Amino acid sequence: MPPRVTVMGTGHLGASHAACMAELGFDVLGVDSDEALVDSLSQAEPTFYEPGLKQLLRRGLDSGRLSFTTSYQRAADFGDVHFICVGTPTATGSNRADLSYLHACINSLGPLLARPCLVVGKSTVPVGTAADCARRLAELAPAGDGAELAWNPEFLREGRAVPDTLHPDRIVAGLRSERAEATLREIYARPVAEGTPFLVTDFATAELVKVAANAFLATKISFINAMSEVCDAAGADVTVLAAALGHDARIGSASLNPGLGFGGGCLPKDIRAFMARAGDLGAGQSLAFLREVDAINGRCRSRTVELASELVGGSFGGRRVGVLGAAFKPDCDDIRDSPALDVAEAVHRLGAQVTVYDPEAMDNARRHHPDLKYADSAMEAARDADVVLLLTEWQEFLDADPGVMAEVVTQRNVVDGRNALDPARWRTAGWNYRALGRH
Ligand code: UGA
Repeated sequence: MPPRVTVMGTGHLGASHAACMAELGFDVLGVDSDEALVDSLSQAEPTFYEPGLKQLLRRGLDSGRLSFTTSYQRAADFGDVHFICVGTPTATGSNRADLSYLHACINSLGPLLARPCLVVGKSTVPVGTAADCARRLAELAPAGDGAELAWNPEFLREGRAVPDTLHPDRIVAGLRSERAEATLREIYARPVAEGTPFLVTDFATAELVKVAANAFLATKISFINAMSEVCDAAGADVTVLAAALGHDARIGSASLNPGLGFGGGCLPKDIRAFMARAGDLGAGQSLAFLREVDAINGRCRSRTVELASELVGGSFGGRRVGVLGAAFKPDCDDIRDSPALDVAEAVHRLGAQVTVYDPEAMDNARRHHPDLKYADSAMEAARDADVVLLLTEWQEFLDADPGVMAEVVTQRNVVDGRNALDPARWRTAGWNYRALGRH
């Protein structure tokens, strides 16, 4: 019998993981204390936008392999492998990770684990957390040594959660026994058969791989945005520079797109929590460079505001600004620490009338930024604008006809915050095209 799987916490990570585990052929029970969330997932209705997930949930539910519950008892009775996918947001008043959902999960599940099972942490945590969880589990579980812990960080990207989960780049398994390794190898047999590397590590290394990967990606993005500042000073073109660097296989072009920088629920919070944890461990100096990575990233936002201000003559007072994009990146509706909304808010505070459009993130944006105006299309957001800001590079915006948009604006000024538009096309249509790190 293949192991039966539970997934504790059915937010973005957990819902995607549960649906993908069912797709891989396992019987899966998703568990969340939020009844409304469990209800909507049981109807194949994710509460967030993720391409392909709805169809996968539908398939899992229809096949009978996938279901959702609020009951930890049911989960404990059902599961041979319990994946923990709860959130670890930034704690209030500090940069540290808030582990309260993780502790609550272990404290609720642990005392119910009466038979042998493997509890697998997937959440992003400060190094040392897995060892603490293993100790706690040993205290709580009636199964004693039979209820074991493993740490198996997740590397999925929002907007690509389904393919990233079904076909991961690598599987990192922080383990303490051969039994745990055998179980995880059975779970990931399909991707491993496709050639995905399966790396066995201790707990601390597994935890660190995750935060180190996100720190590296953030550093790469801030590196190219620092080059963009230098390009501005030197009159060079950062997009050509990035393309040339990317051809070096040792550097690579991924995560080297200059522009408005990184946001979202992961990179910004993870580098700050990583710095805090390194400080606790006496290794603060080793990650001091991440403070600069964060600072460069913040400057991308202020430089974009300045560029837009220049285009409208130095003051936003009485100006209309059309904003294309609210999500922190395309193909998702997540607005957590969104650079786009940060810029929109800043411009609004400086006196502009700002109208925002995003293909998927409108509800979230409206809820959290009620002071901004919203339009039902890119064209309506651009109507009567003195400057249009492209802040999230949705395909729909890249496909927009600059000739048609030129007809609805007051002034043909565009800031390409993601270096995603074709400058020649926009300039031919009469636009004054500007982007960071380009002349
Ligand atoms: C990131 C990592 O890429 C995942 O591997 C990881 O699993 C995830 O965090 C997590 O910890 O859960 P994600 O936040 O979904 O995934 O998004 P990315 O695609 O990495 O983009 C992050 C931000 O960087 C976005 O705001 C994006 O617009 C920006 N970015 C990305 C750039 O400014 N330039 C680039 O070249 C790439």
